[in-house]
Amino acid sequence: MSNEIPVIAIDGPTGSGKGTISRALAKMLDWHFLDSGALYRLVALRAMQEDADLEDPRVLAKLASRLDVEFSTAREAEVVCLNGKDVTALLRTEKCGSIASKIAPISMVRAVLLEQQRGFAIPPGLVADGRDMSTVVFPAAILKIFLTASAEVRAKRRYNQLKEKGIDVNLRDLSREIARRDGRDTNRQIAPLKPAGDARVLDSTQLNPEEVVEKIHGWLEELGLRVGMN
Ligand code: C5P
Repeated sequence: MSNEIPVIAIDGPTGSGKGTISRALAKMLDWHFLDSGALYRLVALRAMQEDADLEDPRVLAKLASRLDVEFSTAREAEVVCLNGKDVTALLRTEKCGSIASKIAPISMVRAVLLEQQRGFAIPPGLVADGRDMSTVVFPAAILKIFLTASAEVRAKRRYNQLKEKGIDVNLRDLSREIARRDGRDTNRQIAPLKPAGDARVLDSTQLNPEEVVEKIHGWLEELGLRVGMN
């Protein structure tokens, strides 16, 4: 049962830094890591490949239930394979993120992915990042964090991330697309992006990743989790 495995849940909008921070924490603790957004992006990618009707919940739920996916690491970098093909770069495009957020409000899709996500909670523990990790997927998480930052800083971070990955983007278009996506994620009826009642809200606008990790490290110590920072 996922409830018995310690989970740290980190939610937040696009570009809040939750991916970077979650990965750093998982490494520090030597725990597993779940990038739940990747699952929504994978369904989006499958839907694009199949030219599926994005309004048809049954078709999309079926695609979600039959994802033939493999997460691995090569030379410190994460690799995601779908049907045996490396789709890591395709997944990160803003187009894929945008389609993911269009299918994310579909309850049948979320129900299929809910079980898959809970399956990642295996010993010794899990750091999970997404939009509803604290509120829906892991409500018993030992630490719930809502990571945020100003819209401007988030757009810039996402821009740099995409550029680093060799993906060509325009900052103004990206800012608009992020605002639309966050709007959809926040305003949807099902599992909207919002802090859990017992989440700690952390604004990283003025903080670098090391400072964010340091802050969370302090919270982990408060919880009695002894972890070394390196
Ligand atoms: O985190 P990432 O940008 O990869 O997520 C892509 C999209 O997937 C989000 O904009 C959101 O619509 C959806 N998502 C979600 N619930 C999650 C993670 C992602 O609805 N837990």
